[in-house]
Amino acid sequence: MTDRSFPAQPNQFPAVRLRRRRSSDWMRRLVQENHLQVEDLIWPIFVQEENGRSPVPSLPGVDRIGPDLWVEVAGEARALGIPALALFPVVPAHRKTLTCEEAWRTDNLVCQAMRRIRSQVEGLGLIADVALDPYNATGQDGLLSDSGEVLNDETIEALVKQSLAQAEAGAHILAPSDMMDGRIAAIRAALDAAGHSDVALMSYAAKFASAFYGPFRDAVGSSGALKGDKKSYQLNPANAREAELEARYDIDEGADMLIVKPGLPYLDILYRISQTSPVPVYAYQVSGEYAMMKAAAANGWLDEQAIVAETLMAFKRAGADGVWSYAALDLARALRS
Ligand code: PBG
Repeated sequence: MTDRSFPAQPNQFPAVRLRRRRSSDWMRRLVQENHLQVEDLIWPIFVQEENGRSPVPSLPGVDRIGPDLWVEVAGEARALGIPALALFPVVPAHRKTLTCEEAWRTDNLVCQAMRRIRSQVEGLGLIADVALDPYNATGQDGLLSDSGEVLNDETIEALVKQSLAQAEAGAHILAPSDMMDGRIAAIRAALDAAGHSDVALMSYAAKFASAFYGPFRDAVGSSGALKGDKKSYQLNPANAREAELEARYDIDEGADMLIVKPGLPYLDILYRISQTSPVPVYAYQVSGEYAMMKAAAANGWLDEQAIVAETLMAFKRAGADGVWSYAALDLARALRS
């Protein structure tokens, strides 16, 4: 990177006038430092067992999508040039257990969706979430001990099985969102041993115990199930140094890419990590952030398209290589038109 601090440009007003570079649209485009492109977008979608669509009340504009529409929806993303889709399953309550074996059933909902889309839509990246919460009767991302604590090493064994099932079903990228220690190394080793060395790991390296995940939990039906909070594994929102350490350890363990999550309230974390990361770093604009923008727009208080574009640009400016956004499809359409 070039050092822009030397030589310093002294303020020589009136000879120097910064407004000259903002004087017309073409000039502003000429000097623009960052760009938001369709290539930056990762689109998270929710898949359900029933055909058709069902809306998520706390995520206006986001529908859970049934098997009859998977290929159509993925094809639309592909046609707009969105590089990758991330799939989250809506698991019916009767399939949730304390041992979570549904997570690695080779024909579970997310594996079915992966297989179907992979075989019918060319040139679209498929990202699978690695964590137990959609399958767990407790709503926690890990297995629980008898006394109710989230077990690290036992959970890793389960995550490895889940990862292998998802890789087998055709996932190109696995995104562990569980925040257990050591899971990246374990999943990498298991994938390689099973002949899946081409499957990449995008680690939720800095995932905070945030109140912004509420609408997501409504969408996948885990909010009712969730007992307690996730503070024993997700990061404390007060800590930045610890987030940098999480990022470094995940890189050491073999992560190909990192995620910082949530997005806008954690731009400082994104900036710090992306300044030094040798691998690409993505921001996740989470459900609560999206819901706030939608709610304000629905009241006529903010211009939805403008606010979405501005917030996503903020991630690029802070150093993100790309952004997970529920607004990805709408934004891609806007960028193409
Ligand atoms: C669960 C998971 C969560 C999100 C992605 N994966 C929720 C949580 O940790 O409780 C949140 C995404 C969002 O809010 O948009 N492993």
